[in-house]
Amino acid sequence: MITNTHIPETAQILAVAGKGGTGKTTLSALLIKYLVEKGLTPVLAVDADANENLNELVGLSVKTSLGDIRERMKTDTPPGMAKRDYMEMYINQAIIETKGFDLMVMGQPEGPGCYCMANTILAQIIEGLARSYRYLIVDNEAGMEHLSRLNLRKIHTLFVVSDPSIRGIVTAARIANLTKALKVEVRNKLLVVNRVPKDLPAALEDQIREVIQKTDLLFGGCIPASEDIFQSELQQKSLLKLSAKTEVVQIITRFFDKFL
Ligand SMILES: Nc1ncnc2c1ncn2[C@@H]1O[C@H](COP(=O)(O)OP(=O)(O)OP(=O)(O)O)[C@@H](O)[C@H]1O
Ligand SMILES: [Mg+2]
Repeated sequence: MITNTHIPETAQILAVAGKGGTGKTTLSALLIKYLVEKGLTPVLAVDADANENLNELVGLSVKTSLGDIRERMKTDTPPGMAKRDYMEMYINQAIIETKGFDLMVMGQPEGPGCYCMANTILAQIIEGLARSYRYLIVDNEAGMEHLSRLNLRKIHTLFVVSDPSIRGIVTAARIANLTKALKVEVRNKLLVVNRVPKDLPAALEDQIREVIQKTDLLFGGCIPASEDIFQSELQQKSLLKLSAKTEVVQIITRFFDKFL
């Protein structure tokens, strides 16, 4: 989908990582909301979590994942057709197009067998796709395996989400370090502490300070525990519908204004 006349050479990649259940998908959905409402489109959101659910938080249902198409490519490519052509032909089935943004779901990781070639083809196609978007948002799992699989070499901003606990902050630092092993160049690595109570406990503040000193993580900010997010989740509503008047949306808007 191309909705804006300004198309940069390739999409800026914004990736969200962190320990399980810390709020990665919530932050990804709020990031989509922010970019779309600011008109910073077109946006491609990639759900790179095997237990996909970003679609639910943005009110979309998924029929086909990239994993499904990769499987089909391995077995169904007609004789005489290059696998890459097959993949290119069908990749659109795994892209849900909607107003302002598109969503692509990676799906389950591969089963037994060799997937090197399939993944290489996939990475090349995604690199090509990225040229049509202004931003590419990747909602990861903690291990960030898809980052290497997608062959994303340059990330503009990596948001590392943590819960408000000492061990959570330490884990966030460890996850931030994983990118070094993946040989991904990350311009900004931001620690985001989510679901914080009204007053940030002093011990947590000390831990954050220590991690910021010892790693290349910068302190992004805190997102409060939000009754509006809680209610939205209970009623299974899209986070895109959260009102601009809610405290959490205002905080998150200021946060993205500062860093993007
Ligand atoms: N700031 C917040 N205030 C209230 N609830 C929140 C907040 N952030 C996240 N949640 C809730 O916490 C739960 C976990 O959030 P989310 O699914 O975004 O985490 P995740 O890191 O993507 O999890 P997973 O590792 O399973 O992918 C959800 O029920 C979500 O609604
Ligand atoms: Mg998630």
